[in-house]
Amino acid sequence: MIINFSDDQDEVKIPKEAIALLKKGLQAVAKLHKLSAKTEVSVSLVSDEVIHVLNKDYRGIDRPTDVLSFALDEAEEPEETGGPEQHLLGDIIISAETAVRQGKEYGHGLNRELVYLGVHSLLHLLGYDHMKKEDKAVMRQKEEEALRMIGLSQEDIDAKEKDPEHFAVAVVDAAAKKKKKNKGKKTLADKLSAEDAAETAMPDEIARTAKGKDKMGKSDVKKADKTIGKLYKKALKARENAYVPFSKFKVGAAVLTKSGDIFTGCNIENSSFGLTVCAERVALFNAAASGIRPGEIKMLLVAADTDDVTSPCGACRQVMAEFEIPHIIMANVKGDLRKVTLEELLPFGFKAADFT
Ligand code: THU
Repeated sequence: MIINFSDDQDEVKIPKEAIALLKKGLQAVAKLHKLSAKTEVSVSLVSDEVIHVLNKDYRGIDRPTDVLSFALDEAEEPEETGGPEQHLLGDIIISAETAVRQGKEYGHGLNRELVYLGVHSLLHLLGYDHMKKEDKAVMRQKEEEALRMIGLSQEDIDAKEKDPEHFAVAVVDAAAKKKKKNKGKKTLADKLSAEDAAETAMPDEIARTAKGKDKMGKSDVKKADKTIGKLYKKALKARENAYVPFSKFKVGAAVLTKSGDIFTGCNIENSSFGLTVCAERVALFNAAASGIRPGEIKMLLVAADTDDVTSPCGACRQVMAEFEIPHIIMANVKGDLRKVTLEELLPFGFKAADFT
């Protein structure tokens, strides 16, 4: 089985041995089920914040959980991509922070926790569940078999069993996923159109994955999604540092340079209100203070707790124009995203060329 693994979080350091064990556990499940070598599964480690958003979007559950399984609707895949990707099982999303926490709580450590979560989630993708007593017994047995294959003990499985809430796993079936997608609420890339994602992908990613063609394949969109996802996470993290004693309105922003560096900012208020500086400008000035100059920025993302996406103020738009930022992503903490161009945000903006 091919495991497309990615660690998409910066919150906790996951050691290599833990990842290796996780992969071993998944391969054990694959072996037990005689899955073909072409079968593919994506495994992503995320933060509590990201898994919280996914839980809210897909399950209406307003808290982070340890793991989510996103089964892929194979029947639809070839039609969507035109490609031969019938072997994709789906995505396993694990909260690294929760895995660390639960590993400590159980006293068996991160490595074992991570492999449990992975094995359990992969079994979900293969159609197992634990809603009914009989089904649960079968699933537990499969878990045991896989874990024993890699040398993990029965006590660990029993410890888990005592606290089933720690296996708060949801399988989002294809129908639910499609419904959400139609509503424009799936992954970050789905929230932008594929065309927008193509534009926002780093140029080298497009070159690498689309082999010089200007069309974007599914993997290119995924790559762009990763870039946007990273920027989004960084903006939300920066938002936590907002100094907002007056408005209590926290804003976070992140800028991505063409060479791939990310600079962040949050809003900083002042008792002399007019001196307040917005998150977008703090992020931009942060980049500028590190030597970034106009033309060197690929995109800026701004996010706050707004109903609709957060729209930058006029002053920030003018500063964005100075730095010639081609793409601006307006977002909110719920995960809504909208990409616009500078031209759309600030038509007829003031330029140096007007007085030089
Ligand atoms: N704010 C931003 O940080 N960015 C914007 O684009 C709009 C407004 C901040 C400034 C102030 O701290 C708070 O939001 C309320 O205006």
